Amino acid sequence: MNTEELMQISLDLVGMKEIPPDSAIHVRGEGIKRVLFAIDVSSAELLFAKTNGFDCVIGHHPRGMAQASYYKILERQTQLLKDLGVPQEEAQEATRPLREAFLWSSHRANWEDPLLLAQVLGMPFLNIHNPLDELGRRLLEEKVKKSQKQGWKIKDLVSSLLEFPEIERAPNPPEIAMGNPDSEVGKIAVFHGTGTNGGYGAAKALFRNGYDTVLYIHIDYHDLEKLRKEFPGRNLVISGHIASDMIGINPYLEELKKRGLEVLKLSDL
Ligand SMILES: [Fe+2]
Ligand SMILES: [Fe+2]
Repeated sequence: MNTEELMQISLDLVGMKEIPPDSAIHVRGEGIKRVLFAIDVSSAELLFAKTNGFDCVIGHHPRGMAQASYYKILERQTQLLKDLGVPQEEAQEATRPLREAFLWSSHRANWEDPLLLAQVLGMPFLNIHNPLDELGRRLLEEKVKKSQKQGWKIKDLVSSLLEFPEIERAPNPPEIAMGNPDSEVGKIAVFHGTGTNGGYGAAKALFRNGYDTVLYIHIDYHDLEKLRKEFPGRNLVISGHIASDMIGINPYLEELKKRGLEVLKLSDL
């Protein structure tokens, strides 16, 4: 197998036609049989792979050119809000601060690390971000749709999330960031797969447009404080970052194993 095929398998899982801007093949390679996977790939993982006979390293979070153009994936936040019924202009405005923050921080990021080391080592290396988060989003949404019933409560939502083995075994279980276990879930939005969590802007737009509950995989405290103040009585549930990432990543790694590849994952052990 080659690096292009490894990428294509992830795109096919969600029907994407092209590689999104937060994902990239950094060093291409052929004849790949043994793969090392880690959510965050640094020099350490590349050196470990090189000295332990791996043919390729696959990461999740953006590196190299995918890190430089990471901010472009934040457009998905606007699209997802629109898909969830938020009017175009409001969706655009709600996601602007985070889009801009990512644009400016892309200039701060050292996108050469660990890309150049992979090149020097001749270690095939790619990172697959949005396709696997999109897969995770669909699986989370599917779970919510299957579990929801008239009058179901936040504690029932948390129980349904715990049915994912990734979440069940995570050291940080889902958190009710806003609301309480006995609040009714009501109308719920699963907001994931858009580069990062929707922060203050996306949750605010969703609450303003009739959603009672928002599901994020993580949130910054500063955003949470503002939401708590402005939207008392609404619910925000946090499913957990790494566990929720793994919900989309594990089916992909299983797919690779089905095709005869040996995979060692340095995440979700
Ligand atoms: Fe992710
Ligand atoms: Fe992540």
